[in-house]
Amino acid sequence: MEFVTLNTGAAMPMEGFGVFRVPDKKECFDAVLHAIRVGYRLIDTATAYDNEDAVGDAVRQAIREGLCTREELFITSKLWVSDMTSEEAAIAGAERSLKKSGLDYLDLYLLHQAMGDYFSAWRGLEQVYQQGKLKAIGVSNFYPNILTNFCETVEICPAVNQVELHPYYTQEGALETMRYYGVVPEAWAPLGGGRYNPFEDQDFQRIAEKHGKTVGQVLLRWGIQRGTVVIPKSTHPERIEENFAIFDFTLKREEMELIATRDMGYTGTRAKHFDPDFVRMCLGKNK
Ligand SMILES: NC(=O)c1ccc[n+]([C@@H]2O[C@H](COP(=O)([O-])OP(=O)(O)OC[C@H]3O[C@@H](n4cnc5c(N)ncnc54)[C@H](OP(=O)(O)O)[C@@H]3O)[C@@H](O)[C@H]2O)c1
Repeated sequence: MEFVTLNTGAAMPMEGFGVFRVPDKKECFDAVLHAIRVGYRLIDTATAYDNEDAVGDAVRQAIREGLCTREELFITSKLWVSDMTSEEAAIAGAERSLKKSGLDYLDLYLLHQAMGDYFSAWRGLEQVYQQGKLKAIGVSNFYPNILTNFCETVEICPAVNQVELHPYYTQEGALETMRYYGVVPEAWAPLGGGRYNPFEDQDFQRIAEKHGKTVGQVLLRWGIQRGTVVIPKSTHPERIEENFAIFDFTLKREEMELIATRDMGYTGTRAKHFDPDFVRMCLGKNK
């Protein structure tokens, strides 16, 4: 495993396991436990995924089985927009995540979206962080202009910004802004999130063959080598294993550059953050 150091001094694994769209508790529990058995130590959940409880159960089971200690794990969750109305609501939301997961602390807690009263919500998270129940706090889906304004305004700079990053949406400018403020970039949908069909790309296949790897492994390695933490999701045991076997090869500079040529700019994004209907939906304001 490779690690990156956060602005708190903590070490964050460069690869983790995501559990978005795994609402079934048993399926989530099995997938997370398998991931920990395989070697993943970072698990990425969220209030909105409705599986913080299954993640907490899997963590306790893994520790019981002696697979790892709590200290070796890095558990991330996120505050949803409905709790981003005031400092008090954010504190209550963070406390709810802790209670639902059954964990004494979370290693990283993110504002899930730059929506609602995210400045007040951040001040709430700063308090829970000061109490030691959140070891680091960060943001998600903060585009460069929003992140700049945020970092220039808040007391504690976010440790991490989790955003959509893959070869079709490389967000080079956003990474530059994050580097400027010492915010670690974390890639959601590092495999393209089930879109773009990267697995059929002949250039990607050629690179994979050269290294004796799969296209999925090449995409994840590409993410890590450009300095982003990757959190692929799968509920298939063999893919969970495959996606973790990426620390025994290195992509050449030309290969890194070739993969990046697939960038489609803003048209490559899966997120709908620029769509007013999506924002209203997240705020629960849709008619
Ligand atoms: N902060 C945010 O707003 C946000 C948004 C989206 C996601 N996330 C986080 O990022 C994580 C990853 O993003 P994501 O789940 O959207 O996308 P992803 O990890 O890029 O892709 C997941 C998709 O790829 C498939 N897959 C996984 N491994 C594969 C492999 N080796 N070969 C072929 N297909 C493979 C999965 O199917 P199977 O499960 O059937 O294997 C699933 O359909 C999420 O789980 C979540 O933790 C955060």
